[in-house]
Amino acid sequence: MGSEGVILPRHLVLVPCPYQGHINPMLQLGTILHSRGFSISIIHTQFNAPCPRNHPDFNFIAIPDGLPDHLISSGNIPVILLAVNANCHKPLKDRVAQMMQSEKPNGKVSCIIYDEYMYRAESVANSLSIPSIMLRTNTVSTFLARDFVLRLIDEGQIPLQGSIMEKPVPEHYPLRYKDLPTTIFKSLSNFVEVVKNVRLVGSSSAVIWNTVECLENPLLVQVKQQCRVPIFTVGPMHKSAPQLSTSLLKEDYSCIPWLDKQAENSVIYVSLGSVACISEHELAEMAWGLAKCNLPFLWVVRPGLVRGTRNVQQSLPNGFREGVGERGRIVEWAPQEEVLAHKAVAGFWSHCGWNSAVESIAEGVPLICRPNFADQKVTARYVTHVWRVGMQLEEELERDAVAAAVRRLMVEEEGLEMRERAVELKGRVEIGTRRGGSSFKDLDKLIDMIRSF
Ligand code: UDX
Repeated sequence: MGSEGVILPRHLVLVPCPYQGHINPMLQLGTILHSRGFSISIIHTQFNAPCPRNHPDFNFIAIPDGLPDHLISSGNIPVILLAVNANCHKPLKDRVAQMMQSEKPNGKVSCIIYDEYMYRAESVANSLSIPSIMLRTNTVSTFLARDFVLRLIDEGQIPLQGSIMEKPVPEHYPLRYKDLPTTIFKSLSNFVEVVKNVRLVGSSSAVIWNTVECLENPLLVQVKQQCRVPIFTVGPMHKSAPQLSTSLLKEDYSCIPWLDKQAENSVIYVSLGSVACISEHELAEMAWGLAKCNLPFLWVVRPGLVRGTRNVQQSLPNGFREGVGERGRIVEWAPQEEVLAHKAVAGFWSHCGWNSAVESIAEGVPLICRPNFADQKVTARYVTHVWRVGMQLEEELERDAVAAAVRRLMVEEEGLEMRERAVELKGRVEIGTRRGGSSFKDLDKLIDMIRSF
C-alpha cells in the first residue's frame, strides 16, 4: 500500500538467458505478469540484448557480460553460459542491491525470476534476501533426459558409441540413446558443470515451466513428486501474452501478403530456429528438395544458418530462386507466430526447438522434425511418437528425400491424419490456457505466491 492508500505494483526483476529461444518465453512471462499488475525490470546481457522498443512498459537494464567476440563467435554454448554466469554475477548483484536502496515506493524488488541457464541469479537473490523463482523454458521430458545423461556420464558411458545409439532407452520411452541431449560441444566438464547447475533449484521458491499439463502429464506428476518447491506449468505462454515482437532479428512481414495469396492449407513453412547451423551442401539439398516438392513454401534462411557464412542468401544454389519463382518465399526472419496461425500454412519443417514445436502444436500445424542438437532430438521424438503430430526426417539431407518428406506431410494420407491429430491437440492445449484450464489455474497460483512475498 502506498502512503495515500493506493496499491502500488510490485516490482519484479526478470533475468533472461541471452538466446532467442529463451528471451521469448521470459518476455512473454513479463508481459503476462505486467498485465496482472506487476512492474517489470529486465536485467539482460549486452550480448543478444532484447529490443526495448516493443515493450515500453518494461524497464530494460543492460549489464556488462564481459564476453569477448571470439567466444561469442565460437558458438561453444556451455562455455558462453559459464562465462555469462560468472561475469554477470557481480553486476547483477550490484544493480539489484541498488534497487533495494530505492526510495521510490515500488522501487524495491519483490522477486527475481531467472532463466534456468542464468542460475547464478539465484545466489544473487539469496544473498540479498529476495525471493526467487526459476523459469524452465524447455520440456519436462528434456529435463528428465538430461538427468539420465548425467547418470550415464557418472558411469563413464558418454560419449555414446556404436550400436547402443539405435537402442531404446529403458524407462525413457520413446527415446533412443541417440535422441538423448548429449551435445557436449568441446568439453565434457564444461557441459556437466552447466547441466548440474541448471538442475538445481537452490533457494528458489518455485519453478515456472513453459509447458502444459495435457502434453506432459505423466512426467510432470513424477517431477512434481521429486521437487521440493511448487511447479507451475503456465504454458504455452505465447498464447496468454499479447503478440509483441521479442525477436533479435527484424521480422520480414512481406511474407504475410504472400501467404494471403496462397490456397488454404497449401504452404510448408521451413525454419531451423535461431541457433542451428547446416553445411552449404545441406542448404543446397534443402533448396532443391523444396523446388522438387512442387508445393508453395516459406523458408527462413537466417544470417548464420550456414556454418562459416554470414551472407547465407548468396549461398543458395544458382538458378534455385528463378526456378521456384513466386511458389517459394525466402526471408531472413519471419513473424513465426503469425505465420503458423495463417490459414495457408499446413506444415512446419522445424528443428524442434521447444518454442517452435509448441507454437506449431498450439496452431494445429503438423511437423517435419529435423533436430539439430541437444533438446531438439528429445522434442522431435515426442512430436512423432507421443503426440503423433509429425514425422522425423532422419536420413541424410538429400533432395529426393526432402521432396518426398514434404509431400508425405502435406498431401499424403499419413500427413493428413497427422494434421487431424494436430488440430485435436491444439484444442486440448487451448483448453489448458482458457479460464479454468490447467495453465490458467497455475498462473493464478503463481501470482498469488508472488503477491505473498
Ligand atoms: C534454442 C535451442 O535451439 C532450442 O533447442 C531450445 O529449446 C531453446 O533454445 P532456438 O533455436 O532459438 O532455441 O529455437 P526455438 O526454441 O524454437 O525458438 C525460436 C524462437 O524464434 C521461436 O519463438 C520462434 O517463434 C522465433 N522465430 C524463429 C521467429 O520469430 N522467426 C523466425 O524466423 C524463426
